[in-house]
Parts: sequence; structure tokens; C-alpha cells
Amino acid sequence: MPTHNPGTRIVALARAGQALLRLVPIFESLTPGSRTKPCSGPRVVKKLQHQDNLYVKIPALRANQINNNQVTLMPKGNEFWSRDFANRYGHTSLVADKDKYLFASEAPRYRFNVIGAGTMGQEHIRVTNFEGRATINGVYDPEPLSVENAKVAHAIHSDEPLRVYGPMEDACSDPDGDGLIICTPNYTHIDAVRIAAKSGKHILVEKPIATTIPDAYEIAQIADAHDGIFQVGLQYRYKAIYTEAIHEALERKTLGDIKVVSMVEHRMAFLDKIGQWNKYSRLSGGTLVEKCCHYFDLINLFAQSRPKRVFASGSMAVNFKEFEHEKGKSDILDNAMVVIEYENGVRGSFGLAMFAPMFYEEIVLCGDIGRLRASENLDFLPGTSLKSQLEIFGGETFPSRMTTPSYPVAIEESGHSGATFFEHVHFIDSIDNGKSEGPTAMDAFWSVLVGVAAETSVATGEQVDIRDLLKQNGLDQL
Ligand SMILES: NC(=O)c1ccc[n+]([C@@H]2O[C@H](COP(=O)([O-])OP(=O)(O)OC[C@H]3O[C@@H](n4cnc5c(N)ncnc54)[C@H](O)[C@@H]3O)[C@@H](O)[C@H]2O)c1
Repeated sequence: MPTHNPGTRIVALARAGQALLRLVPIFESLTPGSRTKPCSGPRVVKKLQHQDNLYVKIPALRANQINNNQVTLMPKGNEFWSRDFANRYGHTSLVADKDKYLFASEAPRYRFNVIGAGTMGQEHIRVTNFEGRATINGVYDPEPLSVENAKVAHAIHSDEPLRVYGPMEDACSDPDGDGLIICTPNYTHIDAVRIAAKSGKHILVEKPIATTIPDAYEIAQIADAHDGIFQVGLQYRYKAIYTEAIHEALERKTLGDIKVVSMVEHRMAFLDKIGQWNKYSRLSGGTLVEKCCHYFDLINLFAQSRPKRVFASGSMAVNFKEFEHEKGKSDILDNAMVVIEYENGVRGSFGLAMFAPMFYEEIVLCGDIGRLRASENLDFLPGTSLKSQLEIFGGETFPSRMTTPSYPVAIEESGHSGATFFEHVHFIDSIDNGKSEGPTAMDAFWSVLVGVAAETSVATGEQVDIRDLLKQNGLDQL
């Protein structure tokens, strides 16, 4: 059954008393000037387990205390602090280090190497440094343009030089690196994970974990045996709308027993990529694996059950019909309708159109006592259209409400509506706690499995029985 972790949530009112209980005082001595450029730390707010609707801020970073010219780090208090405010008005440069309290930050505690420094690798570089508790040690990428762009991305939030590795093995084995972030094209994840896992370092690997069912299962097994943290890039769970939907539907159980989960994504065509790997099903796994594994992960999560049967219909209706690159003609879907039946009777559906002049996604959950609809919209128009919306209808059972879940602007703009930022918060919290909190590799396996089933159904025109599909892939035991 898919796992879920309590969503990271931000609220205006935190309970200072409980927050103090969560403070972990760590004292450390530093010589003045030994820290890196100060940046505002994450003011992370978490839900206390087993206490519904109660949120506390966890001061994640530490502040300066100056005594006899010695800089000591003390835990920050429970003051609110805003990166937006700091970035916009440059307050952090207005006081000397010795006077910094709110503006102070500890030096990053972890160093990550990024394997594959294209679009997503650069987002991870920016977000790692922006989050502040880790920094980027170096990158490995065979494409010189990506390496140059990675240096630019790194310089936004860090003064440190970026190491550039020759072979991938060197990036994985460098003792200066604590963790590895794998953001290579989908078909290369399996080899990259095999090499990376030998290092025993913490690993964050992008979605989809693999392009085939056997590779996805092998990665799930590697993750299971891995001593370090192994997290997968299914970070849509941390988008504000889905974090709230998870909280309402799975933690508060506001909707009662969920019976139907339907999702939609209407967006523009797949972006250009290095080597255009995303235009070929054999390299990406196909559209329903490459992109849609995020949505299948969410549908699996809300269904709280295993998929039993999948039926899908789709085509290449508009995009890349004329596309021909050195690898040949594109063969990917740009629209599909997918129906998933779960073992517990829940029904899921997913509708995709990749020729819309916007990025729009939506989830509708219907339980036996309520309905939730949440959406995210980026339409590039001026005016007042809401970026995110969440509505819950309880009829005559409980109060209905409409909200606009969001994170602060600097976090939302750091990538994927803030989801990547909170993915990093979870990754680093997991490293700190020695226990993985993020979506598991097995969750990622099931999201790939549904994607492969849907691609197969489109190709054959038949429904796909999940047990048969597992058997065909030598996974009868699951
Ligand atoms: N989580 C998300 O929402 C999200 C969003 C976008 C992309 N992704 C995933 O991130 C991964 C990378 O996607 P992208 O958009 O950055 O693609 P990209 O083409 O922009 O970047 C991929 C980079 O990997 C490099 N590369 C290729 N083979 C390599 C190898 N064997 N070793 C090291 N580097 C290699 C390329 O030179 C390129 O710089 C994919 O798995 C993709 O699905 C996830």
C-alpha cells in the first residue's frame, strides 16, 4: 500500500509552548569569519504527530552569540523570519556578523554532488543552497553546457567553487560528498543508481525511477538494502494543494471513505531537453511513465490500495508529429485518458492533454461524506486568476470551505510551486533523523507500474491486469 508522510505545512499562528519542546539545542564553536555567506534558514513548520490541526515551527538553523570575540551558535528562538523579506530588501547585509541573530545562519552541514546537471539538476542546485542546510559540492555531467549552467545556478546562493568530476564514479566516491542527487535522463537512472548505491551515501533520485518494471523493482530493492537515506523525486506530494489534500483526505479523513479519485493535467508540450531524450518512449518510458508517474503516485496514495486493472486510450494528436532528431522520429503520446481500478474498489482516472496554452492540474476526490477539488493554474495572463484553489464540500454534514493554499513567493518561485524546496526539507530532515520520510522507492515502483500498464493498454487497446503484468516481469511474488 502506498505510504504517505504528514505534509509539511505553514500556518500563521504557531504554538510557542509546543515549539520549545521541539527545539534541539546544539552548540558549536566557530571562529569568526569561518561561516559561509549568511542566508535566511528554513522556518519549517511541521504538524505534531497525533495532534490534529496543531502546527509548530521548528527553528532549523542556529544564530550567532558573541562572547569574548568567540562566535558560538545557539538555537534560534521561535521568531518568524521571511526569505522574501530578506531577499527583497537586502537586510542581511545591513548588520555586521557580530550583530546577527535573525539574519545569522549556520554553515551548511551537508555537501551534495549532482549527477546530471540539466534543467532539474540546476533546480536542485539552486534549491539545495536556498534551503541552506546543505550546499553543492560538485557536479558530474558529460554535457559542457550543463556544467557551465550549473556553475551559474550554484553562484546564485553560494560563493564556494563547484567541483567538476570526470567519471561519474569519482562524483559518487568523493569523501567530501555526503549525498548524491541523480537527475539524469530516465533511461540512465538504473546505471546511475547502481554506481551511486555502492558509495553508501544518501541518495535523492529523480522520477520516474526507471523506464521499465524490472529496472524500477531493482532500484526499489537497492533502496531497501541501502544504508543511507534513499528518497525519490515524487515531490508533487509537497505542492501546497496536494499537501492540503493529503491532510484533509488521509489524515483528517474529512471526506470519509474515498471512492473516486480523478486527476487532470492540461499543459504545454514537453520542453526541449539535452539530446531530446523525452521525445522517445524507449528513453523516457513513454509520456505516461515520464510525466504522469507524479499523478499515478498521487492517485495510488489517495486510493490507499494496489492497482488491479488499468485501461487507457491515447494518441499523438498535435505535438512532435513532424519532430525528427538524430535519434529518429518522436513516438510519444500527447493526450490520454486512463482508468485505474484498485483492489479495494476505489476508481481512479487521469486525463492528459499536452497542447493547452497553460499549465493546469486538478484533483477531485469523492468520499462517502464529502468532496474535495484542488487545482493549480499558470496561464500567463494578467489579472486575478487564482494560482491555486482548494474547495471542500460537506453538504449538510460539515462546513464547506474554499481556500488558496500557497507557500511564500520565494519558495514557490524556487521551483515546482515550492514542492522541490519541501522535498529538500524532507531529504535533509531524513538525513538528520537517520530515517527516510520521503516517498519510498516502492511508491515510485508502483507509479511506474501504473504508467507502464497505461502505455501498454494504449498500445494494445486492451485493459491490463496488474497481476498478469507483474507475472510477465517475473514479479509473481508481489
Ligand atoms: N520531479 C520533477 O518534477 C521533474 C521535473 C523535470 C525533470 N525531472 C526528471 O529529472 C531528470 C532529468 O531531467 P531534466 O529535465 O533535467 O533533463 P535535461 O535533459 O535537461 O538534463 C539531463 C542532464 O543529464 C545529463 N546526462 C545525460 N546522461 C548522463 C549520464 N549518464 N550521467 C550524467 N549526466 C547525464 C545531460 O547531459 C543533461 O545535462 C529526468 O529523470 C526527469 O524525468 C523531474
